[in-house]
Amino acid sequence: TDIRGLKDFYKNYFSVGVAVGKSSLNGEEATLIKKQYNSITAENDMKMEMIQPVEGKFNWATADSIVNFGIKNNIGIRGHNLCWHEQAPEWFFVGKDGKEVSKDVLLQRLKTHIDAIVGRYKGKIYAWDVVNEAIDDDSTKYLRNSKWYKICGEDFIIKAFEYAHAADPSAKLYYNDYNTERPEKRERLYKLLKSLKEKGVPIDGVGLQAHWSLQEPTEQELVTAVEKYSSLGLNIQFTELDISIYPWEKNKRAKRLGESDQFTSELEAQQMAKYKMVFDVFRRYKDVITNVTFWNISDRRTWLDSYPVPGRKNYPLLFDAQLKPKKAYWEVINFK
Ligand code: XIL
Repeated sequence: TDIRGLKDFYKNYFSVGVAVGKSSLNGEEATLIKKQYNSITAENDMKMEMIQPVEGKFNWATADSIVNFGIKNNIGIRGHNLCWHEQAPEWFFVGKDGKEVSKDVLLQRLKTHIDAIVGRYKGKIYAWDVVNEAIDDDSTKYLRNSKWYKICGEDFIIKAFEYAHAADPSAKLYYNDYNTERPEKRERLYKLLKSLKEKGVPIDGVGLQAHWSLQEPTEQELVTAVEKYSSLGLNIQFTELDISIYPWEKNKRAKRLGESDQFTSELEAQQMAKYKMVFDVFRRYKDVITNVTFWNISDRRTWLDSYPVPGRKNYPLLFDAQLKPKKAYWEVINFK
């Protein structure tokens, strides 16, 4: 068996990462991580609700163990994330009087949080997703009407980057989002990134989550997105790659319509072709793409087994439930 992994085949292109949790740091999953990847991201353990579930009470144990695993094994660590409307505890937004806090108070709480986590891992985390998913799902609207936005307006985005940069000037800072290859989202994301650059906000790049399907993005959509964002002088990281076997738009009803959740050889062939296409594009744009990270280790367990349809099995990754490489894996590493 080959001792080389994805990180070795791609060493002249970009680092290759994976999302991990505490249970993947031991046993056969840890062995696979060490062979295949040179970057890791905490799937959940650095999110706001995990780090600071109660004001002033910080939970570092699991995040520390992930960081220590990376350092010990010479694997880089991507931080995810500093500010998001999900997995953010309610206390951030509520004052002692039970009422919604002012903008000043909320920004102070955000600063305290970012100072603590970015400061703790200063010099150890090479990149941070500073703000996650701030653009509205409704294509006729611009920024999402989250608590962050309602209380602070667009300033929460700007401030989050400034706080993160002050806490670790050497960490690379990213804005991270999904569906970023769809034209309607692409234009709005471009507008946001452009305005951050024009304001002199310390942003290094854009994280494209890459929760994809057999249908999208098309090669043209992917190429257009990469060229458009990089034209702003930003680098690109694909931060949460997986290729679902279900069409995204039908996701919410697929199983109920009686569709099978078997990974048929036909689906396997389509997924292999999709993985080949996207990695062909990634290699072509190696000058602007600096990392590609998979969201979970193998089809044994992925977040898509429970999202958006609970209990519907998915098969979106390069390794099967036995942690063996799938056909798509060989397509990804066999290139000249
Ligand atoms: C997901 C995790 O994988 C799940 O375990 C958790 O229950 C919810 O969050 N976009 C992101 C990630 O930026 O943080 C999300 O991760 C997936 C979508």
